Amino acid sequence: MESPDTKSIVLRDVMISDLPIFFEQQQDPEANWMAAFTRKDPADRDAFMAHWTKILRDETTTIQAILFDGQVAGSVLLYVDEDGQLEVSYWIGRPYWRKGVATRGLLAFLGHIKVRPLYARAAKDNIGSLRVLEKCGFTRIGEGSGFSEARGEEVEEFLLRLD
Ligand SMILES: CC(C)(COP(=O)(O)OP(=O)(O)OC[C@H]1O[C@@H](n2cnc3c(N)ncnc32)[C@H](O)[C@@H]1OP(=O)(O)O)[C@@H](O)C(=O)NCCC(=O)NCCS
Repeated sequence: MESPDTKSIVLRDVMISDLPIFFEQQQDPEANWMAAFTRKDPADRDAFMAHWTKILRDETTTIQAILFDGQVAGSVLLYVDEDGQLEVSYWIGRPYWRKGVATRGLLAFLGHIKVRPLYARAAKDNIGSLRVLEKCGFTRIGEGSGFSEARGEEVEEFLLRLD
């Protein structure tokens, strides 16, 4: 039997038909807790669609769908944060966790994005995300905190950079 990590990872531009899949993937309560800094109401489908339609049109944002063995497993994106820094983020649907999808998807994405430095952030207890970033060469450069809508409390995070 083919092992999960030999299955193909392919990045492609996001299609409108991906959005309902991303929406479903972003309903998972554990995923929201992990990510911590999420939308106020992830179940608001109209707000989700409006937000994604806007960022897909935004020329300063780069978004790719991650296909695992031909299935839409998640997304990876690059955007300009509130400090004007280029920041990466990603979200993998729960059925695809722990198969190397985030690591391989982010590595492929970073191969296309030539500009450096890039930044990322993750809640201090989002061990999986920190591991993904560090496997892709990001290093911790600082920390901070912010209000987490998903947890309803202040949450500490690490800031990371890829040079
Ligand atoms: C965090 C997330 C991106 C990880 O995706 P993934 O595809 O499962 O990650 P990978 O399979 O590439 O795993 C990379 C490493 O992290 C580890 N890992 C993944 N999830 C983990 C978890 N929940 N706890 C501990 N380690 C974890 C893997 O075992 C692997 O470690 P290894 O290389 O030592 O074997 C995914 O769980 C997710 O999308 N979560 C919800 C949204 C989110 O948190 N986004 C990031 C916001 S900062």
